[in-house]
Amino acid sequence: MMGKTIGLLLIAFALCQLSRGERDWWENGNFYQIYPRSFKDSNGDGIGDLIGILEKLDYVKDIGMNGVWLSPIFQSPMADFGYDISDYTKVQPEYGTSEDLLALIDKAHSLGLHLILDFVPNHTSDEHEWFQRSIANDSYYRDFYIWHDGVINATTGKRQPPSNWISQFRYSAWEWNEQRQQYYLHQFGVKQPDLNYRNPNVVEEMNNVLRYWLARGIDGFRIDAVPFLFEADIDPATGTYPDEPVIADTSSCPDPDDWCHLNHIYTNSLPEIFNIVYQWRKVVDEWKREHNTDTKVLLTEAYTSFENLMRMYGDGVHNGSHIPFNFEMMAELNNKSTASDYDYYVRHWLDNMPAGVYANWVLGNHDNPRLASRFGAQRADLMNIFLQTLPGIAVTYNGEEYGLEDGYVSWEESVDPQACNADPSTYLKYSRDPERTPFLWDNTKNAGFSTADRTWLPVGQSYETNNIEAQYAADNSHLKIFKTLTKLRKSEPAFTDGDYKSAVGDGWLAYARKASSGSPHIVIVNIGDSKVTLNFNELFDNISANLEVVTSSLQSGLANGQSVDASAFEAQPYNGYVLRVKSEE
Ligand code: GLC
Repeated sequence: MMGKTIGLLLIAFALCQLSRGERDWWENGNFYQIYPRSFKDSNGDGIGDLIGILEKLDYVKDIGMNGVWLSPIFQSPMADFGYDISDYTKVQPEYGTSEDLLALIDKAHSLGLHLILDFVPNHTSDEHEWFQRSIANDSYYRDFYIWHDGVINATTGKRQPPSNWISQFRYSAWEWNEQRQQYYLHQFGVKQPDLNYRNPNVVEEMNNVLRYWLARGIDGFRIDAVPFLFEADIDPATGTYPDEPVIADTSSCPDPDDWCHLNHIYTNSLPEIFNIVYQWRKVVDEWKREHNTDTKVLLTEAYTSFENLMRMYGDGVHNGSHIPFNFEMMAELNNKSTASDYDYYVRHWLDNMPAGVYANWVLGNHDNPRLASRFGAQRADLMNIFLQTLPGIAVTYNGEEYGLEDGYVSWEESVDPQACNADPSTYLKYSRDPERTPFLWDNTKNAGFSTADRTWLPVGQSYETNNIEAQYAADNSHLKIFKTLTKLRKSEPAFTDGDYKSAVGDGWLAYARKASSGSPHIVIVNIGDSKVTLNFNELFDNISANLEVVTSSLQSGLANGQSVDASAFEAQPYNGYVLRVKSEE
């Protein structure tokens, strides 16, 4: 590609001065999501476990994290790998014991890490005692779930589900239960019946689950599937639930068995969800107050509108989620996105969030392809540079810190229910197994993840030369770049407190971050496939002639500490850079 000097196509400015002062532990937090099943297996059964995590906590600390959230580790038949819980207060035996979890909490705290559990309130497993008692019509549990007789089809005379609602995992969201002779609702898998949040006993039982873990020293909760907590009530005119309309343009989702085929006006993001989040916040705030503890945080998972995400923070009267996961970039950016798209999503959140809250940025998780696969391996560092240098809270999915790519999982090896509900020709479109393959620790058997002959998912990628140990040993690596970034983010005033001033051109985004103390920094992400030459003095108000590289993408060809020309900085395609403005000598 020909290099070109960029005339400014577009300069966009966003100024957001963050409030200064003492920060609570989570406010500028660096959060790390561990998928326990794939992180580290300590007992050789091919499945990651709590002791495995405990053994690797020093690593988590070393890469600069201060909050760790674990995907579910509770007792579960594993129909949705722990997101189908049969006892909220017991640890799944293949992950360890309650004592192991307590030891993990202790170790985390001794390292200054805060440990966060996954709270799955929308549904239980069908093997949960509550559901079994509900099936049996036990009076207290009868209305713990959503039950309905179904309706009689006028033409066939046959009984059919009460509405056309579709499950996230495809097909009807209603399942017939022989024993109770009714249908129950499951917005996810058949083995994940939805709890009934219109029943105050359900609300209180779930609050008690939070209190149970708070009493054991847990520092907060990532709350699963919030938009699904409520559905429309029965329509008195028909005696059943209202059908959802088919989407206007079915070409984007032609299969009527797919969740995306319907417009979810009756089953998703109902206004009732907010009060439930606000009262969970009350539970954790009360706990903090009464027990004089560190702040217990809530991180909420909601793929919903931007307005709803802002409302998740609170409504001006009630506080809500500390960290309503910001999925805008994860949902909207892909390897065709322009630099303006990147800039838009930064400013969209910063400029519109309510006063007194913190921005957060999430680029990956266990439900989405890994960054290096989604944006291309050559952009792996660029994406981490971007995430770690934005104002507020960063959330990293385990593996992204060293550029891990999705693993290949054949149809025969697939275990994700979303894949298994499809068929050999379409499963890859749905499967979440590729982003869940085991962590690559070293070049020994199974990448040091497990000594078992067979692991629960295949070790998906070649690890002989590319693994954590090798990246520590190398002069430079994705991991080393990541560590430089997290350190910078924690200690440099420009990143802890600095404002954000951006400029965008064809393929590139540059932003200056500057605080009242410390050195200003400039971040450049050249997302595009052309080399660009940038004049920072033009872009950022004569920022300085003296710039040095703090870190940059592995393939940049620049050394840390190297001086660069502020008036003609060459940014290579797919590269990210963090530059420091040196004080004038
Ligand atoms: C959330 C989880 C996902 C799970 C679903 C049902 O979206 O992240 O993995 O399948 O909820 O609990």
